[in-house]
Amino acid sequence: MLDRRDILGWLTEGRECRLEELWARADAVRRERVGEAVHLRGLIEISNHCRRQCGYCGLRAGNRQLPRYRMSDQEILDCVRQAEAFGYGTVVLQAGEDEALTQERVGDLVRRIKADAPLAVTLSLGERTPEELACWRRAGADRYLLRFETSNRELYERIHPPPPGGGGTAVHRFELLRVLRELGYEVGSGVMIGIPGQTWADLTEDILAFERLDLDMIGVGPYIAHPATPLASDATVAPAPAGEALESSQVPADELTTYKVIALARLACPRANIPSTTALATLNLAQGRETGLCRGANVVMPNLTPARYREMYEIYPAKACVRETSDDCHRCMSGRIRSIGRVVGAGRGDSPNRLARQESDSR
Ligand code: 5AD
Ligand code: FES
Repeated sequence: MLDRRDILGWLTEGRECRLEELWARADAVRRERVGEAVHLRGLIEISNHCRRQCGYCGLRAGNRQLPRYRMSDQEILDCVRQAEAFGYGTVVLQAGEDEALTQERVGDLVRRIKADAPLAVTLSLGERTPEELACWRRAGADRYLLRFETSNRELYERIHPPPPGGGGTAVHRFELLRVLRELGYEVGSGVMIGIPGQTWADLTEDILAFERLDLDMIGVGPYIAHPATPLASDATVAPAPAGEALESSQVPADELTTYKVIALARLACPRANIPSTTALATLNLAQGRETGLCRGANVVMPNLTPARYREMYEIYPAKACVRETSDDCHRCMSGRIRSIGRVVGAGRGDSPNRLARQESDSR
């Protein structure tokens, strides 16, 4: 158990010798609670259309420079087949909030995948209605990812303009996470690190929220400015005035802070599945993924998106794996896992946190 003061203390700790203790604790808890296996999730970026205007995201509707694509069902099913051939236990279908991904289409797609392959299906399709989420769960979807991005409501609302039909508030997103839980999904969420305007106190609250939400999966990564978004030129972020408490100063969007958040997420939610993310790999192509895996993470998400679409899924610039093929990413990830003495996970790699919750609920 960590309290607010411990979390803030670790987040702002600068001494390497002290941080070694945090890395060691996170790694020990990871080993004890989720083991040595690193689970592979095949990521399929099925559409880059989006109706929203998130201030940080390159897929925002207002980015007219971005060519848009939508994969066909057949293309998606081909990727699923490839996931199976690589031995992945899970496919993740991710997209912007694309209105062409209707309740029926996604429902049919999930049913076809589940009928074809013994894989877990994770959806990451943005804020959708409770009816849609219920329909997809009935169709067989196992997990849903929806990051809350920041628990600071004012900051949240600054970077997430509401869509025409309602929604778009921090409260709404937390409410959707509750709906997902009630529908029986394995629930994943997380935040970006170093959003302009995010303070150490905010990030501390984010980690406390991971624990309060009892998350099954936690994905975090550094914020990376995209030049075609308003946040990239945000002038609202002034350095904290001299004399201001450290906790109200800006969080840097850097590698070290990302490791701290991964490690603290592991301590806050010992049995959660935690990926070492692509955004982290983008900051350190040589060692980012491995270092994340050694400081609390136990999942990686090799990209399965067909090569011709990859560069169009430009959430942020210079994203890792854009020039590689699915084969390249498969080999690369397996090699990286072995290089640190860990093993590639077999099977679906369900969240031990959800299994534990189910057991305690049935008692
Ligand atoms: N930098 C880093 N991460 C980003 N995401 C979106 N835009 C950016 C960016 N500019 C993250 C968000 C989203 C996930 C799919 O990608 O956290 O939930
Ligand atoms: Fe894609 Fe390493 S995982 S190139």
